[in-house]
Amino acid sequence: MIAIGSDHGGFELKEILVKYLEEEGYEYIDCGTFDENSVDYPDIADVVCREVTEGSSELGILVCGTGIGMNMCANKHKGIRAAQCGDTFSAKMTRQHNDANVLTLGGRVVGPELAKEIVREFLTNKFQGGRHQTRVEKMMSFEN
Ligand code: RB5
Repeated sequence: MIAIGSDHGGFELKEILVKYLEEEGYEYIDCGTFDENSVDYPDIADVVCREVTEGSSELGILVCGTGIGMNMCANKHKGIRAAQCGDTFSAKMTRQHNDANVLTLGGRVVGPELAKEIVREFLTNKFQGGRHQTRVEKMMSFEN
């Protein structure tokens, strides 16, 4: 299960990505927003991050104008490792090495076709463990 959400700045891209998830056969939960009216990105980040930390969704996708506000909010949640990606290589590596569980995107920054490719890399790559496991554990110890 993939949790996806956006504010008004990411709404257009989020809608495109929802269609993409559907076409690719992913199970997803659309956490809003559902129109272009202004909303506060922390509220949506909270819903998507809770989906992930509570185990209802394996991964999350958050879109705002730049992706940065969503990223900052997501990384304040215990258990979340959110990665801001503007390219496919980073999306692949952040799953393989950082075990990122939330992807953040800038709806006013990346075009729809690139965004779909970034999402594809994020969703199809797996954490490699091994030496990266130790590093992720060290990273997560900063939460305490
Ligand atoms: C909303 O105008 C904008 O601030 C938001 O979408 C996002 O870019 C924040 O980081």
